[in-house]
Amino acid sequence: MSPESPLLLEARGLVREFDLPGKRLFGPRQVLTAVSDVSFSIAKGEILGLVGESGSGKTTLGRLVMRLLDPTRGKVFFDGTDLTALSGRGLRRHRRRFQMVFQDPYASLNPRMRVGEIVEEPLIIHDLVPDKTSRRERVSGLLERVGLSRHDLERFPREFSGGGRQRVGIARAIACAPDLLVADEPIASLDLSIGAQIINLFSSLNEKEGMSVLFISHDLSVVRYISDRVAVLYRGRVVEVGPTREVLDDPVHPYTRLLMGRDAPMDAGETSDGQDRSFELCPFLARCPEARPACRERMPERFEEHESGRQVFCHLVMEGSTWKTSAPSPSRQGIA
Ligand SMILES: Nc1ncnc2c1ncn2[C@@H]1O[C@H](COP(=O)(O)OP(=O)(O)O)[C@@H](O)[C@H]1O
Ligand code: SF4
Ligand SMILES: [Mg+2]
Repeated sequence: MSPESPLLLEARGLVREFDLPGKRLFGPRQVLTAVSDVSFSIAKGEILGLVGESGSGKTTLGRLVMRLLDPTRGKVFFDGTDLTALSGRGLRRHRRRFQMVFQDPYASLNPRMRVGEIVEEPLIIHDLVPDKTSRRERVSGLLERVGLSRHDLERFPREFSGGGRQRVGIARAIACAPDLLVADEPIASLDLSIGAQIINLFSSLNEKEGMSVLFISHDLSVVRYISDRVAVLYRGRVVEVGPTREVLDDPVHPYTRLLMGRDAPMDAGETSDGQDRSFELCPFLARCPEARPACRERMPERFEEHESGRQVFCHLVMEGSTWKTSAPSPSRQGIA
């Protein structure tokens, strides 16, 4: 993937609100803003890692991109088409091109269907291989592609280990040769060595078949290994995004710096469940050790380093003081 690769996906100003239940009958509507004004893009052949602690809005964002959820505001463009303007048949026509891999493969696979039928189903829905014998051949090939075998065709999901079931989920997701995979914590329920094999499978799908991936995870080491770029989400907002090495080795936003400095996994930290995130100010203000007067007055703007495309949302960058907290690096000089 080169930095000039054309865009595959572009999210612009995505907002998703959920109604909070149990409020007074005639009182004002109470909402939780799970995703708040999020914009990002994924190039053709690129892997974008999306990191953030539990409750930061990762799954909601993945589902918005997949059009499994409607945004309250904002747009999703896929290869130039505004997905948010599509519904019914128009949306179904595009669906084959973006597919989701879920955290819990068991919940996402129909336990009453055999693996052959599970992987074959999208080919039937999208009418891609009408001939039954050829379709079965294609399914066998897909199983082999993900490290299973044609002997698995007649087995049920319950007969597989967690890793095997995730392979079935991936075979189903890639059956129609999508351009984009949205993988929502795909190895979170697997043990380490099996998880590593699944990660290598995503890498290989990206390298050999050119699939773009939105890789959602709270595991920074996995994101570092697999992603070309990384976006850091905090309470429904992207606070920093850019090339993986730059963001993780030389974090600029105070929240990213906190993440990179602490030993505990992200989910051991604060969760933001149940809190409204429709901020008018920086979402990190309450926890930020470096907050200054401007942070209490207005939302920070986006600052972009034009060469690498790195973006940071923080008043410190505007004031140039982030650079003083650690040794300046070439990647930082263009941002302020
Ligand atoms: N269907 C829903 N109804 C109400 N609130 C929801 C719904 N889905 C997610 N949320 C809330 O939105 C926030 C973000 O959730 P989620 O996207 O699942 O975060 P993550 O995947 O980062 O853990 C959480 O506070 C969660 O409780
Ligand atoms: S904008 Fe202000 S409060 Fe927010 S992270 Fe930057 S310094 Fe901290
Ligand atoms: Mg999630």
